[in-house]
Amino acid sequence: MLENLCQQPADKILQLMKMFRDDPRADKIDLGVGVYKNAEGVTPVMRAVKAAERQLWKAETTKSYTALAGDPAYLDAMRNLVLADSVAAGRVAAAATPGGTGAIHMVLETVGMANPEATIWLSDPTWPNHPSIINHLGMKMQTYRYFDSEARGVDFAGMIADLEGIKAGDVVLLHGCCHNPTGANLTLPEWQEIADLLQKRGGIPFIDIAYQGFGDGLDQDAAGVRLLAGQMPEMLIAASCSKNFGVYRERAGVALAIAPSEAIRGVVGGNLAHLNRQNFSFPPDHGARLVTMILNDSVLCADWQAELEEVRLGMLAIREQLSAELQRLSGSDRFGFIATHRGMFSRIGATPEQVVTLREKHGIYMVGDSRLNIAGLNETTVPILARALIDVGV
Ligand code: LMR
Repeated sequence: MLENLCQQPADKILQLMKMFRDDPRADKIDLGVGVYKNAEGVTPVMRAVKAAERQLWKAETTKSYTALAGDPAYLDAMRNLVLADSVAAGRVAAAATPGGTGAIHMVLETVGMANPEATIWLSDPTWPNHPSIINHLGMKMQTYRYFDSEARGVDFAGMIADLEGIKAGDVVLLHGCCHNPTGANLTLPEWQEIADLLQKRGGIPFIDIAYQGFGDGLDQDAAGVRLLAGQMPEMLIAASCSKNFGVYRERAGVALAIAPSEAIRGVVGGNLAHLNRQNFSFPPDHGARLVTMILNDSVLCADWQAELEEVRLGMLAIREQLSAELQRLSGSDRFGFIATHRGMFSRIGATPEQVVTLREKHGIYMVGDSRLNIAGLNETTVPILARALIDVGV
């Protein structure tokens, strides 16, 4: 039986992680996988996470099961972090999931159960795992234009024109902030136009928000999500704590579903819990518990927010430096977009061949579509990257 299995296509981002690990060069630079690194190249455990772990170690008396949908205190804290008071809590069903990817999977399964005919609309480009999961679940998908690769910004006219093609009940996947892979974000008036279009056509927004706090700030990064939540009768959300709490390996995420009424919310919540049971039973608790402790303790929360802000401002400073260095070396303004993009990523605009040359000749690793992770750089490596980009002709 097992010989019938075919080789699965390698995940390009994870494949790159392995290639980087196997490269013996000491001066190699990893701008691949979306993991935050400080100036020393370390992905630190955040201070508040360490403090919460110390408290938990002393206070925790059992490792017995929590609730099937996760600890209600975690679900409340995460709903509040993402949605604040944009929608009545009584309309929001929630389930803890293994990371943001687990939430994406759960949300899509929920869509498949509620409306197997729904088409999932994805931005072109998007995080490669989006289409991969949708394919795996055998669901229909289409893309909408998102990125203008000449202007290196959002092709909003193209996006709206394509989304005019959705049918009632179709699901439109949007990146809540810090678009992965491009770094180009929607403005608030653009979010409003999307809300109007979705309401007109009966589409359902599905927001993947994995980088809240990495762009313009915790509240600012959730502004588009909250705008939609305040207006849409139904909405789906997958949120991740991997990046903003730095708990990547703990797998802490949440699936949120805004129902049209409190009565329907109960059924939706029951379905989310049922899906947890079918997929993995109880969700992982450790990371979720740390997040809950941090969000519900004013001292821990203030320290977490302060460190998150240091991370965010550090990435912005790198963006400014890289943009200025490239401007100096190229004598042109064509790299100004790096400073205006937000989050961990920017798509720099190198060809696949140039990306290979950057890797082979300069030991600089980025995803094949020329997405680079800003957090992989520091003050010393920015000029090295800038020179290499000019050298390969970007
Ligand atoms: C990324 O896009 O690099 C991250 O979200 C990590 C991953 O799992 O792909």
